[in-house]
Amino acid sequence: MQPHLHASAETDVRPRPAAHPVLTVAETPAELAAYHQLRREVFVEEQRLFEADDSDLRDHDAIPIIATVDGRVVGVVRCYRKWKGVWFGGRLAVSRDHRTGLLGASLVRRAVELMEARPDVRRFFATVQVQNVRFFERLDWLARGRPFPLAGCAHRLMEYPLRRARS
Ligand SMILES: CC(C)(COP(=O)(O)OP(=O)(O)OC[C@H]1O[C@@H](n2cnc3c(N)ncnc32)[C@H](O)[C@@H]1OP(=O)(O)O)[C@@H](O)C(=O)NCCC(=O)NCCS
Repeated sequence: MQPHLHASAETDVRPRPAAHPVLTVAETPAELAAYHQLRREVFVEEQRLFEADDSDLRDHDAIPIIATVDGRVVGVVRCYRKWKGVWFGGRLAVSRDHRTGLLGASLVRRAVELMEARPDVRRFFATVQVQNVRFFERLDWLARGRPFPLAGCAHRLMEYPLRRARS
């Protein structure tokens, strides 16, 4: 699903990228390098959640999703299997100059679409920074349990109610 970047009123001050973002799974070495670069910019340099690199063992088999505008990767998210049937989304980030343009919401929806399409996924969770809980709730995610500290920042477990979990 493409975000509606140009559909708002004249007074809307959201950024207006020159082209619609393209959401894909990163595959080439260049795409993967840009995916990790944006993660570092946001989670290491901006948020200081990690000292030098936010990569971890999950990256060996995670699905890396990227949003590209005019050939530049401006949004990322990953999905990975934690236990049999149980997957997590994470490392959701939009570059600062593209925020509030509905790109983050589009990335979350694309991750959900991917999980809905995989028969091996029974439950889909995310560990969400508390300031973003409302963002996820507006995308129909449900908070599970109480906030807890992670990497020096309060987080909350959230779940997307996949169709097969609802039936
Ligand atoms: C969180 C983040 C991914 C959101 O991406 P974004 O592209 O700016 O968000 P969107 O434009 O898609 O937001 C969709 C809607 O949610 C709203 N929203 C955005 N962030 C929000 C938040 N933290 N709380 C509540 N609402 C929020 C937007 O205003 C928009 O509302 P609208 O539909 O009424 O216009 C982005 O701010 C970011 O990369 N932050 C730094 C990294 C981070 O915090 N990652 C998430 C870790 S859990």
